[in-house]
Amino acid sequence: MTRLTEIVMMNILQELKEIVGDRVSASPGEMCCYAGDASQVVGLPDFVVRPESTGQVSRILRLCSEHLIPAVARGAGTGLAGGCSPVRGGIVLDMSGMNRILEIDIENQQAIVEPGVIAEKLNSALKPYGFFFPPDPGSLAMCTIGGMISYNSSGMRSVKYGTVRNYVLDLEVVLADGRVIHTGKKVLKSSAGYDLTRLFVGSEGTLGIITRAGLKIAPMPRTRKLVLACFDEAENAGRTVIRIFSSGITPSACEILDRTTLQVLKLCDPMPAIPEDGDVILFEVDGTESSTSEAVRQISEICQPTAKSVRIADGPEMDGIWAARRLVGAAISRLDPMKTRIYMGEDVGVPIKEIPALIKKVQQIAAKLDIPAMKYGHIGDGNLHVALFIDVMNKEQWEKLLLAADKIHRAAMELGGTVSSEHGIGLARAEYLPEQVGTEAFSVMQSIKKALDPKGILNPGKMGL
Ligand code: LAC
Ligand code: ZN
Repeated sequence: MTRLTEIVMMNILQELKEIVGDRVSASPGEMCCYAGDASQVVGLPDFVVRPESTGQVSRILRLCSEHLIPAVARGAGTGLAGGCSPVRGGIVLDMSGMNRILEIDIENQQAIVEPGVIAEKLNSALKPYGFFFPPDPGSLAMCTIGGMISYNSSGMRSVKYGTVRNYVLDLEVVLADGRVIHTGKKVLKSSAGYDLTRLFVGSEGTLGIITRAGLKIAPMPRTRKLVLACFDEAENAGRTVIRIFSSGITPSACEILDRTTLQVLKLCDPMPAIPEDGDVILFEVDGTESSTSEAVRQISEICQPTAKSVRIADGPEMDGIWAARRLVGAAISRLDPMKTRIYMGEDVGVPIKEIPALIKKVQQIAAKLDIPAMKYGHIGDGNLHVALFIDVMNKEQWEKLLLAADKIHRAAMELGGTVSSEHGIGLARAEYLPEQVGTEAFSVMQSIKKALDPKGILNPGKMGL
């Protein structure tokens, strides 16, 4: 695929106007706004369109297919792997305008939504019914359901409730040639044919564009409580997590915030919700009043012998702690104004038994290369977010960063884990996919891509496909 000539550009702009009216732009300023997500991966599109219906998406993809134009769907752009960055130009489809909650069906425990619905808005709409959509990424207040499905997002509560893939029952998808399919039915289970729903979940816009989703929803737990345990060293904290899970307790969230992360939060708030000095694990439990009290007691008891301090929080205090946890991503820039966080080596995951080994390895890598590294994330899932900082003007530091990120990815794979637990492959991690899944499995992925997108117009370059 080559960049478009001026004359072709004019014709395509005209055709796009016929499809979406004035919801299309080619202005250079606006193209810069759509250059990427929250990662460092960028690329300029030729056009941005804001479709409002499945029919429009279908016509846009038919046009792309006919003229071999890359088509890149995006939601809120909160991704961290360059998944929606239009690295080969073409048309960005901004799906955030398709943002209607079409149905809340409590009897069937389902909601039907368009892809641009913001996750938190869905939860606000479900709240009066006593239901919620459990996947809970750090960007809940901004990210879209379509983006979450495309990356199989998860976040704080997947340790108990699972990831997005556990909640998608049906997808309406526009294929590369403009055909529209449904992957499922409005049923909670189905055993009919290949599981196309799961195929599209996590496919990062490389196989089709999601225009509607049927989601399973869950009843809100009546009570939530938190145990906050502070440790002298992160590895020790990791070992305690294993003990909790081995004893049969399933927290509804299990997060680590290392001592540097807490320092950063203190820089943002003189009265921090987490004043502890050390490496902290947050164990949240949910359920009934009596079941949560019992779980809190058990968790505290298991933590006591190895922790420096253990405390219990609920109500507004717990809300403050969760708000602090959600602030981490944004707060990180305060660590050192001369340095920038680079989103590489930042979403690794291992079997939970290997967490202490992963923490140790990350610490060794950062120390050896002398790069500041903050560690936080969903430790109960074995998922560690590592924030690496460098002076981006310093070539030597860039080289060290690339080396550190590579070593972190390889450490996760050597421990039987993954280079991405929830942020996806995009472009940032594409080189690792064949190694992680194996060349034979990767060639199956290539065959699927070829079958569904023979001209390679859908989000080209991503996932190495
Ligand atoms: C979080 C995002 C980075 O956990 O996944 O805050
Ligand atoms: Zn996360």
